[in-house]
Order: sequence, then structure tokens, then C-alpha cells
Amino acid sequence: MGSPNRKTDGMNDFRAWIENKLGQRVRFNEPMSAHTSFRTGGPADIFCLPASVEEAVAVVQKTRSANLPLLITGGGTNLLVRDNGIRGVVLSLKGIRQKIRMTPAGEEEALLTVCAGTRTPVLCAFAIKHALNGMNFALGIPGTVGGAVMMNAGTRFGAMDAVVDKITLLGGDGEKRTLAGSALTFSYRKLVLPEEAFGEFDPLILEVSFRLAKGERKEIIDDSKRIIAFRKKSQPTPFPSAGCFFKNPPAGEPAGKLIDLAGLKGLTKGDAAVSRRHANFIVNRGAASADDILELMETIRARVFADFNVELSPEVRIVGA
Ligand code: EPU
Repeated sequence: MGSPNRKTDGMNDFRAWIENKLGQRVRFNEPMSAHTSFRTGGPADIFCLPASVEEAVAVVQKTRSANLPLLITGGGTNLLVRDNGIRGVVLSLKGIRQKIRMTPAGEEEALLTVCAGTRTPVLCAFAIKHALNGMNFALGIPGTVGGAVMMNAGTRFGAMDAVVDKITLLGGDGEKRTLAGSALTFSYRKLVLPEEAFGEFDPLILEVSFRLAKGERKEIIDDSKRIIAFRKKSQPTPFPSAGCFFKNPPAGEPAGKLIDLAGLKGLTKGDAAVSRRHANFIVNRGAASADDILELMETIRARVFADFNVELSPEVRIVGA
């Protein structure tokens, strides 16, 4: 006869295993407000920060064999966690410290290979330092490279698809594989991985190589200053947020403009507010709950739909219970 508490036993076994393996790098019942730029969100049952790719792979495999739900996060900068938190395991690659590798690619280009947990600003700064052109579009995008590639993060100056040369991932079948950029399908804020990357589980990006052009350091620095100044002028918000909340509609005016024209700047629900500086930012003015933000989101969607007949969909990833 099977134990009625088999599920709990499995969880307890897993807890013991992961505590032994990761020590201080695993936390139980960890508030996700500490790991999201929105500064809100309920607790994750188990939150872990592996220190190496090997450790991350071991955790993923163990989580799968224990049949526990697994959520991979980048920097938590485009994430809204619901107030009841996340059941199962949350794994962030941002704790992995791995040097960026630079390899020449012909006369004109070089490849930068980075761990998915590398912060995008660190990658941008490295490219500037080594006079490599092509990453400046991403200046001001927070979070990790893995997250940025997974959602084809971008600005008006470009997006990840222009610079990704190849990615190495842990396939859904548990095998590591490298996919050339040509095997990847990027679209607006989206990456679709090929069928072969999937198995029983979703794949996990471990490493990314970027192909950048050799350039003049001074020109790249001047260009970076222009981009940073533009960003500061158009999106200067001192409050926690997840950046732009909604995707821009495929045609017509951008989301920020529609929300502004609907007269919603400054609208609040609890401590959640539509930013007065950029209407596509929902900001947390202190103690906003995820529920506050979600309610405000629904109000915005309804008002924009009523005024412009446009259905906004969130760009921010909403997870949890
Ligand atoms: N606008 C308004 N009112 C506002 C905000 C914007 O009228 O309150 C107008 C602006 O004047 C401009 C237009 O809307 O004419 C577009 O605004 P902006 O230049 O700020 O760009 P965006 O389309 O709102 C996109 C990305 C941003 C990225 C910027 C700058 C999306 C959803 N957003 O914003 O990305 O930083 O371009 O390159 O694609 C993010 O992904 O989190 C993000 C902030």
C-alpha cells in the first residue's frame, strides 16, 4: 500500500537533498518581493541560486525526477508574482559568476559567450570596453541575458535577435545542445525554440554567444551616451516597476501613448499606480500587492479597449498562485 503522504515525503526528500547540495544558496518560503524589480509577490516554496552551470543542471534534473514544478527566472525584472507565491522550485541563474569569453570571428567580428545568468548591463559594458559594436541598443535593459534572449528584449534601437549567434541549452530531454541562430525564430518580444529543444520538459538556456562587430571605442561610447540620455529622458521613474507593462500593439499607436490618451496617468489601486512619466509603466509606490497591480492592469485594459478598441496584452510575465 502506498503512503498517503507520498507527495509530502517527496518534497521533504528534495528539501534535504537541495539543502545539502546548495547550503546557503537555497531558501525556503522565500518572498519573491526580494527577487523581483516590482518588489512585490508571495513566497516561493524553494528558491535557489546555483553557483555554477553544473549545479543548475543538477537541480533541474533532481526537480524533474521529484516531479516538482520548476520556474526559471532571470533577474526578475519582467516578472509579476501573484500574492500567494509559487509552489515548487524557483531557480535563478543570476548567482553564477562566469567570465565572459571573447573569441575572434574573422577580421571584422568577435563572439562574446556568456552564461545566461550574466546581467545584460555587464555584457553591454564589456562590449563597449572591448570596442565591439552592436550591444548598445540594450543599454538600460535590466535583468539577465537568458531572460533577455528568451523574450527577445529590445528597445527602439534594436533587439536581441540582431546579435544572437548561438545558444546552448539544456533540452527538455535533459541533453545539452547548441543551436545556431538560424534555428531560432524570433519575433516581437518572443523567442520560439525549435521542436528538438523540447522533450518532456521545457528547455533552459544556459549560455549565449553574441556576434558583434569590431568598431571604434570612442564612437561606441558616444553612441552609448546618446542612448542612455534618451532612455533617462523618456523613462525616468524612481519607483520599482517591471519596465513597460504591456506589449505595443502590432499596429497603430504604442501602448504608452494609448494609456496616456485614455487619461490614465496617475490612476492608482492601493500603492500600484500608472506612472505619470511613462504611461506604460505600472509602478509600486510602496507596498503594492500583486493583486493591486493586476486590478490596475484590468482597469487599464478595459479603458483602452473602450476608448480605442485595442486589446493590450501584458509584456510582463505573470506567474504564481
Ligand atoms: N508616449 C506617450 N505617453 C506616455 C508614454 C509614451 O505619449 O506616457 C508616446 C511617446 O511620446 C512616444 C511613444 O509613445 O511617441 C513611444 O514611447 P517610447 O519611446 O517610450 O517607447 P515605447 O514604445 O513605450 C519601447 C519598449 C521599451 C523601450 C522603449 C525605448 C515596448 C513595450 N517597450 O517603449 O521597453 O525601453 O521602446 O526604446 O516594446 C520594456 O520592455 O520594459 C521597455 C520599457
